[in-house]
Amino acid sequence: MKPLIFPSEDWGHLARSLCRFLPAERGKLEARSFPDGETYLRIRSACGNRHAVIAADLSQPDPKILKLIFLAETLRAQGASPIGLVAPYLPYMRQDKSFHQGEAVTSKSFANLLSGRFDWLVTVDPHLHRYRSLSEVYTIPTRVVPAAPAIAGWIRRRVRKPFLIGPDQESEQWVSKIAEGAKAPFVILHKERRGDRKVTVSASGLNVWQNHRPVLVDDIISTGNTMMETIRRLKRAGFKAPICIGVHGIFSGSAYEDLLNAGAGEVVTTNTIPHSTNKIDLGRVLADAARPLLKQF
Ligand code: R5P
Repeated sequence: MKPLIFPSEDWGHLARSLCRFLPAERGKLEARSFPDGETYLRIRSACGNRHAVIAADLSQPDPKILKLIFLAETLRAQGASPIGLVAPYLPYMRQDKSFHQGEAVTSKSFANLLSGRFDWLVTVDPHLHRYRSLSEVYTIPTRVVPAAPAIAGWIRRRVRKPFLIGPDQESEQWVSKIAEGAKAPFVILHKERRGDRKVTVSASGLNVWQNHRPVLVDDIISTGNTMMETIRRLKRAGFKAPICIGVHGIFSGSAYEDLLNAGAGEVVTTNTIPHSTNKIDLGRVLADAARPLLKQF
């Protein structure tokens, strides 16, 4: 029997794309909220002894998590087994250390929550900073899909004389691979974070690339401040309006408009989080990563 794929509430397009590339069919689910805001769920597909996959957009995660857990537990209660999770954006990865006495390391709590409900996980470029791999926090098998080849391909096709810029040391892991694939030079800047919305970026050694098109690349665009601060530096140095590429475009509040107002020439993201800037489709590579897990279990 083919595996069943259940979409998270507002992300039918990923489930559709996975069903197109995988031998799988879409599971039927009824979901609504009671008048008091609590969740009602009913699975309308027979799922006894069937492999089930939840395809979930977990950006801005808190309002979505309970439903995800309820869905996984209801599938389990209906006899679905194993149960996988395709969450192209994996939240809570940035809180990987307790900097002050009493601070929660939520990356660990979140990983425990998911590891206890799912049998495997597929995601795209999780924010690995102090953890070297997901296995340091997740106890289930995980597969990481790199967005670099698809981003490099987009740059090769669309940008003449690109020059890639990573705003901080952490970004080097993505930027170096994208630059290699795009056959473009790159530099990594130095960022200091002074608060949720306050960063400073220091840039030196850029002038040699003046006649190239700057392409900023980061894994996450959240408030957009990291990119905006970098755009300001580039503007002052006389560069052309940069293209800003984020693997995961969270765009908190007015971040997208703010980026355009700050001078971004174009803002481009992959479709790990639905947004009008999604110009790079990862449906096929996500399906390629899930296929062996569907066979293996
Ligand atoms: C942080 O270390 C990440 O790699 C991104 O640079 C960061 O999350 C971007 O956040 P914001 O858009 O709020 O500056």
